[in-house]
Amino acid sequence: MIKDIRACVFDAYGTLLDVNSAVARNAALNAALTAVLAKTKTKTEARASLSAPLSQLWRQKQLEYTWTRTLMNRYADFWQVTEEALDFALKTYSLDGDAELKNSLLQSYLSLTAYPDAAQALAQIAALDLTTAILSNGTPHMLQEALRANQLEELIDPCLSVDEIRIYKPDPRVYQLASDRLGLSPNQICFISSNPWDVAGAASFGFKAVRISRQNSPPEYAFAATHAHVSTLAELPALLRTA
Ligand code: LAC
Repeated sequence: MIKDIRACVFDAYGTLLDVNSAVARNAALNAALTAVLAKTKTKTEARASLSAPLSQLWRQKQLEYTWTRTLMNRYADFWQVTEEALDFALKTYSLDGDAELKNSLLQSYLSLTAYPDAAQALAQIAALDLTTAILSNGTPHMLQEALRANQLEELIDPCLSVDEIRIYKPDPRVYQLASDRLGLSPNQICFISSNPWDVAGAASFGFKAVRISRQNSPPEYAFAATHAHVSTLAELPALLRTA
């Protein structure tokens, strides 16, 4: 049970929005990947064997660049970082010559598919009289577009972006931004993320942190105690108490 909270603050990418949907939905990419392996495998196997690693590499590099840029004090916004990571991922798979393909993948970040459990969980949490907010590395434009594409914008207020302080998670100043903007002390805020390093950053700052792991991954960052683990957002509303 997570008691005495006033707000639920969500990470966006990987938590409410499926980052793998950009690659999974891209027909041109899947056709290109199919061609790469068409000689050796069936089309379905070819797609599966390259599209998931490409999507993972894109995401892994995107996150790495946020950490390195923050440590180097060389902020560039999340759209630029996402593009730089995509460039690396496409080059790794020798797919860097196709500007149209790159552009369509990048643009799909503006309409990533929301996880099917997101809307109902947000509505149930709002019905508990809790603020439902986002705190994300994404730029305001990226976040607003993706929320609009999934009809989630009415269920989130406020939608906070690190872009206003030009520092990425898990720097404590990011979590401070949410505390300041919500006018709540850290222990009145429940923070939910699928990214273990983000959950740890939030817990270390003093939020009541919940990790959502849809694959039931093992726990990490034992030094920053997580308040709860869930495997779907549907489990969350029942854990929350305002008193
Ligand atoms: C975000 C990334 C970390 O939304 O998923 O902030």
